[in-house]
Amino acid sequence: MTFEQYLEESQARHLDELFALLRIPSISALEENRSDCVHAASWLAERMKQAGLEHVQVYPTAGHPLVYGDWLHNPDAPTVLIYGHYDVQPVDPLHLWRSEPFEPQVRNERIWARGVSDDKGQLFLHIRAIEALLQTEGKLPVNVKVLFEGEEEIGSPHLGPFISEHAAQLAADLLVVSDTGMAATGVPTICCGLRGICALEVRLTCANTDCHSGLFGGAVPNALHALTALLAKLHDERNKVAVPGFYDSVKELSAAQRKQLAAVAFDETELLRRLELSAFAGEEGYTVKERISIRPTLELNGLWGGFLGEGSKTVIPAQAFAKISCRLVPDQDPQQIAQLVASHLQRLCPPYARLEVEIGHGGRPYVCDPDTPEVQAISKALSATFGQPVAMERMGGSIPIVDTFVTVLQAPVILMGFAPPDANAHAPNESMELSTWRLASRAICRAWYELAKSA
Ligand code: BES
Ligand code: ZN
Repeated sequence: MTFEQYLEESQARHLDELFALLRIPSISALEENRSDCVHAASWLAERMKQAGLEHVQVYPTAGHPLVYGDWLHNPDAPTVLIYGHYDVQPVDPLHLWRSEPFEPQVRNERIWARGVSDDKGQLFLHIRAIEALLQTEGKLPVNVKVLFEGEEEIGSPHLGPFISEHAAQLAADLLVVSDTGMAATGVPTICCGLRGICALEVRLTCANTDCHSGLFGGAVPNALHALTALLAKLHDERNKVAVPGFYDSVKELSAAQRKQLAAVAFDETELLRRLELSAFAGEEGYTVKERISIRPTLELNGLWGGFLGEGSKTVIPAQAFAKISCRLVPDQDPQQIAQLVASHLQRLCPPYARLEVEIGHGGRPYVCDPDTPEVQAISKALSATFGQPVAMERMGGSIPIVDTFVTVLQAPVILMGFAPPDANAHAPNESMELSTWRLASRAICRAWYELAKSA
């Protein structure tokens, strides 16, 4: 039997197995889901053993566990380190899901569940591919090391130290990550750049208690007013980030690079339609495509304070809170940018308020060299499987650990992702097309053959 036949025949069973993984609510951000993350890790370890991986081990961390396994019986072939994450983002607002986030369903030729695109559905493609090759050929064309983590969606706080401590164990010729998207449905895509990230949380305090807005309104400062006034000063009238120094180390794209970016098909009208938007917003002087991929941003992710319950309450809130994150591009440094934002906010804070800023997780941006033999080999496999040329794209999302891998392991990275553009990752109704899920494991098997050939 060929691996193609094996994958075809095992499709239904593999889908059932993926559903079992999708049912585990491994939300890394929430304390109440801690044991679900442990469960997902041990589920994966079992499944990796079944697929034929060896030395499979769950590594506990101070946060959520890591899972490692390998198959290293091809001394003359290159070694690929495959990375993915089994944790998912929170699911609220729950009422907007058309089916339960952790009760996977197939509708309209798509799988619907939290994590199906980001990233459980994608990491499972690799397990399927390894199993298919070992079952049909008895061996893999390359050596593989597989590392899955459970903290990607919270900034991978414990993976960096693990990589440094296990650098020899993780040594590889190539890192492969399937946690990115496709340029368009059915278009095989290699992502050649990711934005970095830094996160901050802000607490602004005025009085030592909430006050009656009738008895004190007009004189006692309102924390929500103070905070929103501050936050409004984070962008200027051209929608540029107004934090001094924010753009200092940003590399401007050359005219040729901008032309190349514009050449990749991107349907703005379709995106407006899908989001029911009448217009886009953002930085003047850049195309929508540029704004969402190669320009840095600063966004409010959450803003709260005062009374949020039913009905009205006449109160002057004493405190107000915000969550902020910035997407970063070469050569912005996450620590430095977070510090610049924090100092800017402190400088603008009015004398009647006190501001506390906590700097959270961070990760550096990443840009790849599109002209390497590894990219060529994998592109060949992808285009042969999907019957279309490969799109090479820089994307706006972040995978914080990629830069650490590159720095510590000194190996190139290939981001070959299979999430559709309308995957709704991080949002209600996350999905992936069955057709892509079917083809992608085949593409992965072929990629290992092409890689072995090119080495
Ligand atoms: N899979 C995404 C990243 C991604 C998606 C990159 C599509 C490129 C294209 C990843 O799981 C993710 O969402 N990462 C977070 C990281 C953050 C929480 C530290 C992100 O980008 O928000
Ligand atoms: Zn992801």
